[in-house]
Amino acid sequence: MSKKTFVIFGLLVVFLAVLIPWLAFRADGDSPEGADVPASLESGKTLFQDNCGNCHTLYAAETDGNFGPDLDELELTEGRVFSAIENGVDGTTTQGRMPPGILSAPQAKEVSEFVAAVAGEG
Ligand code: HEC
Repeated sequence: MSKKTFVIFGLLVVFLAVLIPWLAFRADGDSPEGADVPASLESGKTLFQDNCGNCHTLYAAETDGNFGPDLDELELTEGRVFSAIENGVDGTTTQGRMPPGILSAPQAKEVSEFVAAVAGEG
């Protein structure tokens, strides 16, 4: 290896060593803040992030899915959310449909409580 190649390689390594952590931190900082939720709703929030967030935007859960409607823009009661999860929603307003039975009933209830409590905050 010539000295020049060696120096260029060294610079590249230093560059990457700085760049990669910087990108990682930046990616973190980019996500929306979301709202703090009471401890009793935390598990519903986690379930929402894992099971619903790919399709739905909800400010309080920091999700930005756009396959289904933005849930902050709907008037949601716990019952309406629960029935959407249990029965699914046929595509009437948007391009797709929501599959029924994504969650077990107890989990669906937790998510419904969470969504009904926080929707519209964003
Ligand atoms: C595969 C994508 C997908 C997933 C996953 C998904 N949804 Fe949906 N959801 C949709 C679509 C699409 C609609 C709208 C259907 C329509 O109105 O045309 C919808 C509609 C809804 C509605 C509105 C129902 C109404 O009464 O208007 C609620 C509430 C809802 N989803 C909640 C949830 C929750 C909570 C979860 C997680 C347990 C979830 N969704 C997971 C795609 C999804």
